Amino acid sequence: MKYNLPKYILPALLAIAFGCSTAKQDITSSPKNKTSIDRKVDSLLSLMTLEEKVGQMNQYNGFWNVTGPAPKDGSAAKKYEHLKKGWVGSMLNVKGVKDVKALQKIAVEETRLHIPVIFGYDVIHGYKTISPIPLAEAASWDLEAIQRSAEIAAAESAASGLNWTFAPMVDVSRDARWGRVMEGAGEDTYLNSVIAAARVKGFQGNLGEFSLAACVKHFAGYSFAEAGKDYSTADMNRNTLHNVILPPFKAAADAGALTFMNSFNDIDGIPATGNTYLQRDILKKEWNFEGFVVSDWGSMGEMVGHGYAKDLKQAAEMAANAGSDMDMESSGYIEHLSALVREGKVSEDKINDAVRRILKVKFQLGLFDNPYKYCDEAREAATVGKKEFHDGVLDVAKKSIVLLKNEKNLLPLKKQGQKIAVIGALANDKTSPLGSWRIGADDNTAVSVLEGLREYKGNQLTYAKGADVVLGNPQFVVETKINTTDKSGFAEAIATAKSADVVIMVLGEHGLQTGEGRSRAELGLPGVQQELLEAVYKANPNVVLVLTNGRPLIIPWAAQNVPAIVEAWHLGTESGHAIAQVLYGDYNPSGKLPMTFPRAVGQLPMYYNHKSTGRPGGDAPTESVFWSHYGDIDNSPVYPFGYGLSYSKFEYGKVKLSAGSFGKNGKITVSVDVKNNSTVDGKEVVQLYIRDLFGSVTRPVKELKGFELTEIKAGQTKTVTFTIDEKTIEFYTANNKWEAEAGDFKIFVGGDSATKNEASFTFTK
Ligand code: BGC
Repeated sequence: MKYNLPKYILPALLAIAFGCSTAKQDITSSPKNKTSIDRKVDSLLSLMTLEEKVGQMNQYNGFWNVTGPAPKDGSAAKKYEHLKKGWVGSMLNVKGVKDVKALQKIAVEETRLHIPVIFGYDVIHGYKTISPIPLAEAASWDLEAIQRSAEIAAAESAASGLNWTFAPMVDVSRDARWGRVMEGAGEDTYLNSVIAAARVKGFQGNLGEFSLAACVKHFAGYSFAEAGKDYSTADMNRNTLHNVILPPFKAAADAGALTFMNSFNDIDGIPATGNTYLQRDILKKEWNFEGFVVSDWGSMGEMVGHGYAKDLKQAAEMAANAGSDMDMESSGYIEHLSALVREGKVSEDKINDAVRRILKVKFQLGLFDNPYKYCDEAREAATVGKKEFHDGVLDVAKKSIVLLKNEKNLLPLKKQGQKIAVIGALANDKTSPLGSWRIGADDNTAVSVLEGLREYKGNQLTYAKGADVVLGNPQFVVETKINTTDKSGFAEAIATAKSADVVIMVLGEHGLQTGEGRSRAELGLPGVQQELLEAVYKANPNVVLVLTNGRPLIIPWAAQNVPAIVEAWHLGTESGHAIAQVLYGDYNPSGKLPMTFPRAVGQLPMYYNHKSTGRPGGDAPTESVFWSHYGDIDNSPVYPFGYGLSYSKFEYGKVKLSAGSFGKNGKITVSVDVKNNSTVDGKEVVQLYIRDLFGSVTRPVKELKGFELTEIKAGQTKTVTFTIDEKTIEFYTANNKWEAEAGDFKIFVGGDSATKNEASFTFTK
């Protein structure tokens, strides 16, 4: 559908502002196209009043029954009036073609300058057809599958009227207590970086009608909330900021992300929304980012809560001066920014810069060519829930599963003649697998584990709930209630287990025990599930524990006693099919943990790439107390970062280097033979880690620097090679810049971060 500009727009306005509006979309980053968009943006800007400019910087939450009568009172009426005046640049949480179109119509047909609104939504891991939570997808280490998953999410939501997703979250997460670890790619900077780029590419594609603008968040440091408590103070030093936190943001910006979101936390005592160093100096100057920055929900107003701004007006001043371009739901800009400009507290140049950025993204999305580009009801009906999307999310769901333990040959299950008992409320749950942030999807739309297993008809299958995990129907905005007392189903579960050959216990967290505002201080199996596990295990030790969770759990007892453990996260709509295919061996698991599984909460934050310290020691307590350790527990985790098994058995040969050293502009090649010493074809994530032995600032004991997901047929050997050059060993040095320092390095190649398969090289500058 081609949008026809209303007749009443002055022809002159048309000519100036929209110039070649029938020309092809300016979506590439070629300088020529950029120039043409910039010219259009400048023309339009020159026609705008200060209030209209500020309006573009204002984002409102969806506020009334859009297709019903216009609201008459209260804040909805005010927002509606603002929309009609052209004072709303963006809206969030409005979805579906009918509603989006109704609002867009007001913006483009009733306002003076007819500027389209950009509609944002938290499409975090799918819209209606839900993919695994992002942390789970990261466990696939499969960048193509992850990109495809983002494409599916974009296609469904763009067909439903949306233009912009508040994803990907690229916060490096080291503390499993933080509920939002489910939303990112885990604890490693490199893995987060490559996945960030894949997600941006997946969401944005060619910015056609099935694509969304991405929004990289939360800039920056949000995941470093002290003690994993959401919204808490984030404390880190500049070295950690640059070497650990910022690289995934940079990777996402380099991949072409059109927008960024700042964050709730303060950093170095300055709330991110009012942080000039982050938003202007690093993002916009150093990285040359040309898109815009939206605040997090109300984060401008929260600068008052932080005790940094004395009132909303001062918060607006600080945010605008610091480079926060759009205000999500604080109303600070719309209420105060024009006055602040008139008072000389914020320059009009800064406003122009922000508006230019916002308009530019709208041009890049093609909203000026056709504000109804995303509003085609027939396309919506034909797109949402497509079979190929179900196939796509099933594919990534299988790839996200991590086999943690497999003794007694319990897995894969035999397809005939086994008596299987399935136990656990989560086995029969069709909502929990959708995970947190599945806000476009309806309750009860996931395939449960039980349903998935029932499709394999050769075995006798019985089910017992054992115990509820949560009480009532958990809601997105309400604290989830856990069952800590009701064990009335234990007897039935024990009896069911006794009469089976194999017991599949599906335990863990409900989907809504994770996500925003859902930090937890205890990370064992919630409620009475640990007791249930031990009671069932006593009745029949042939237990396969299927974990469903949104963060690493503390499961030392299970890791010690239960013979088989499968990490199945919250895998989305096709969850039960994916799990059943892995349990029955129709898919050979290949996932690897993107976060360390600690032994105890007391070890948190825990991550493999920690610093050496002056007193490193080993893993286990020794006689002396004067080294960096706990007296009551090993330093090692239960499962390290990068860990995961397969039904195949992979054996690594020694690491080989093409040379012992390289100099400026040089490189060396690292190779290793990996043998599949089994009768099953499989896939392995071969991981490359580096240790820089001395630096101008202290360096981590190991850092992931590359990986290859490779398929190796039964009995075959594959040689996997990596190249190491200056880029590989660069870091943010004591000179406050990224550079490679001369010195000695260790290199490790293996199937997880604990590998000791090492060699050494020297970099001579
Ligand atoms: C979250 C953001 C999210 C926004 C809009 C905030 O509370 O921190 O990640 O995009 O809400 O829903």
